[in-house]
Amino acid sequence: MATLQIENVSKHFGSVKAIDNLSLTVEGPELIALLGPSGCGKTTLLRMIAGFISATKGTIRIGDRDVTNVPPNHRNTGMIFQSYALFPHMTVGENVGFGLEMRKIAKAERHRLVKEALSLVHLDGFEDRYPKQMSGGQRQRVAIARALVIRPDVFLLDEPLSNLDAVLRQSVGNEIRALQQRLGLTSVFVTHDQKEALMLADRLVVMKAGRIIQTGSGSDVYNRPNSRFVANFLGKSNFFNGWHSQKDGFDTQSGLKLKCPGTDAALGDASLLSVRPESIRLGPDASSFTNSFEGKVERITYLGSLTEVEVRLTEDDLITVQMQNRPENIFKADIGSSVIAGWATNSAHLIIDQGEV
Ligand SMILES: Nc1ncnc2c1ncn2[C@@H]1O[C@H](COP(=O)(O)OP(=O)(O)O)[C@@H](O)[C@H]1O
Ligand SMILES: [Mg+2]
Repeated sequence: MATLQIENVSKHFGSVKAIDNLSLTVEGPELIALLGPSGCGKTTLLRMIAGFISATKGTIRIGDRDVTNVPPNHRNTGMIFQSYALFPHMTVGENVGFGLEMRKIAKAERHRLVKEALSLVHLDGFEDRYPKQMSGGQRQRVAIARALVIRPDVFLLDEPLSNLDAVLRQSVGNEIRALQQRLGLTSVFVTHDQKEALMLADRLVVMKAGRIIQTGSGSDVYNRPNSRFVANFLGKSNFFNGWHSQKDGFDTQSGLKLKCPGTDAALGDASLLSVRPESIRLGPDASSFTNSFEGKVERITYLGSLTEVEVRLTEDDLITVQMQNRPENIFKADIGSSVIAGWATNSAHLIIDQGEV
């Protein structure tokens, strides 16, 4: 375990700023998730930490060491990839032992460490198989063993679950998390999948266009997004455009008067109020909330555990409401019928700085 420090790092490919003056510290044994849409620079940043790509500018430190110009094989990072990237012509044992051989570890010790690493990922006795004789989940566990056998200072994971089906994604994800915690590994997990990030990470780092937009725990970022971009990237939200008119008041452009958690910040400024779909109630009881409005049901979508209902409050405000389906509580209404929608003041989140995101 070692602290990873990224200071003012940029990477330019010609005119593309893949990473744009980014700083980030990961304290061992923390697992952070780099989360963002395709092309936002996640892989580039990970490959710079590993040393496969050199930084255009800035400094990368692992522990006390400035590794900015240190080649990958001298950084002591372990990396796994979406595509597993195992050597097809080598056995599982040879794959896992590869990094040890490069480090000139003697054969007997190598065998012992390979056995131990395979045991960590529950693949005892698989040394002599070839990758093509194994399932996707097993191959990814071989790749994990190969990355961990060298006892890396930093564990790097680039969308490692993306090639697995939903069930395996969950179980391999849980295994990765358990190993990371047990070994106390400083880890950076890249994903474009918010569920994976929420499930696995101590801290989320949401990126866009080579920059960090927000960092925080899953519940921080979900409940207090700093921008429309983050609110939409992590889940869904309803947005009202308008003005924070008084300490706990918000007037929408469409003429609704809403309540929001009290703050003196940005009074009078154009801003955005975000309300999550699961925070809104429908039906007569919803009239007891501080925010309650009559609307018309426009669409009802059954989604198994949830029902999603679109309700039009005004010409400009079509809100989405999500309800858990319980046997006694399945939402039924005719399209076009009236319904009361309501939510509590503290379910609304004021987004002040719309800036460039
Ligand atoms: N070797 C390269 N040459 C030119 N452009 C690149 C190269 N690698 C990545 N890029 C560009 O840098 C940006 C970030 O890419 P990448 O780090 O792969 O994003 P992500 O992993 O978040 O999907 C993209 O615009 C991509 O096209
Ligand atoms: Mg990528």
